[in-house]
Amino acid sequence: VIESERRYVSRTLEGPGAGTEIWTTLAVEAPQRTGVRVEFQVPHVAAGAASRLGAGFRALYTRLWDEDEAMMRHREAMLATRPGAARTGTDAIELGPLDALRAKLPLRVTWGDRPFRIVELADGLHAHATVCPHWLGPLGDAPLEGDRVRCPWHGYRFDVRSGRRCDADSPLRLAPAPRVVVDAATRQVRLVAPD
Ligand code: FES
Repeated sequence: VIESERRYVSRTLEGPGAGTEIWTTLAVEAPQRTGVRVEFQVPHVAAGAASRLGAGFRALYTRLWDEDEAMMRHREAMLATRPGAARTGTDAIELGPLDALRAKLPLRVTWGDRPFRIVELADGLHAHATVCPHWLGPLGDAPLEGDRVRCPWHGYRFDVRSGRRCDADSPLRLAPAPRVVVDAATRQVRLVAPD
């Protein structure tokens, strides 16, 4: 390994494929450009099966690499915009008549320069942050599981109402979201600051 290269080795220790090693070598080729070489060291491959196995590894690894790269690019973009709690003192936002809003749910909104999504639960409308507090994964299109939203990146689930992580005792929680208020008389909907 020369100075400008880094090699990472992952090994499968047990189960199917035990003994397989994946060598990933990264080499600096130019500023903002990295060469990537991946070698699959697979024991006990039957004669004649290597090229088919290699093609399978290549296809799988290319897909995983592309997915990881997309995640990292998204995260970098989110870091650049400094996601977090919305600005305090943000004015209320009028969202119009309840029936018209319902037809657009789930609805993404921006409040205090931060992205949120309005969804309807059994007890009414709620907003939740669309940036996962783990690695800044995207929650804007994440499916609801009852009152919870599941992050597509690592599967953490968060309670839409409280923002708390559901599956573990964890300090991670969604950024405070504005409240969605429906005027009982006019049926107009507004976003207002959290309590
Ligand atoms: S980014 Fe990891 S669970 Fe959301």
